[in-house]
Amino acid sequence: MNAVQDPYAATPAVLPDGQTVLSVRHWDDRLFSFRVTRPQSFRFRSGEFVMIGLPGEGGKPVLRAYSIASPFWDEELEFYSIKVPDGPLTSRLQKIRPGDQVIVRTKATGTLVLDALLPGRTLWMISTGTGVAPFASLMREPETYEKFQTVILTQTCRNVSELAYGADLHRRLLEDPLVGEEAAAKFRRYATTTREPSERMGRITDLIESGKLFEDLGLPPLDPGQDRVMICGSMGLNLDMKRLLEARGFTEGANSRPGEYVVERAFVD
Ligand code: A2P
Repeated sequence: MNAVQDPYAATPAVLPDGQTVLSVRHWDDRLFSFRVTRPQSFRFRSGEFVMIGLPGEGGKPVLRAYSIASPFWDEELEFYSIKVPDGPLTSRLQKIRPGDQVIVRTKATGTLVLDALLPGRTLWMISTGTGVAPFASLMREPETYEKFQTVILTQTCRNVSELAYGADLHRRLLEDPLVGEEAAAKFRRYATTTREPSERMGRITDLIESGKLFEDLGLPPLDPGQDRVMICGSMGLNLDMKRLLEARGFTEGANSRPGEYVVERAFVD
């Protein structure tokens, strides 16, 4: 036996819960997205997350929570990930190629679902970085447009290249045979950077406080009577947004008790 063995060389061609990678796209040196086959019996609600991963040393899988970035009706599953050079999962996951296998555990859960929100007029989806992933699912969900007259996706990142995936989602949304037409009338994307100069700059929290977000979009300031908010980003963003919303009279919703806003941490960061 060879003394220096690759621990992954023994990976069987077909893993338990293994799904086949169909495509991979690298957005910059830190971000990539990929699509895998969908297990036939797998059901989830748009906005939920699952555990995905790769086999680890000794056969124990390395799994992390990932929001599903495709809607419930899509035949494939899409995920959006950061690349952490020494991350236990993403250091290897970033090397996947079409034909490889990724473990997808088929138990979906999460609070960023339409059922957790009371009816309203405008849906705000507030994200930073990879927190855009659950909204990639919800923006292609027909129920989103049945329930809301206006849908706004905000994404804030440090640098311009990190906004490329969100821009592509918007382009694909408008071409979507199921929701493209409705989305063209109802959906708007508002992207900002905080470190690298771009067309629109600033933290979303500051843009809400100053009112610039509403001025730019020609919409009234946040009102718990009309607006519903979903938040997915870094811990700091989530806490600041929670404070900001609660100061304006918004109450947090859950699956069992719908409310005016819901929040979930962007998992892989
Ligand atoms: P900033 O550059 O001002 O920290 P990160 O890469 O650290 O996860 O941050 C992603 C984006 O989220 C950055 O643009 C960052 O802005 C912004 N951000 C981080 N913390 C907060 C917060 N508490 N409120 C609003 N935006 C935040």
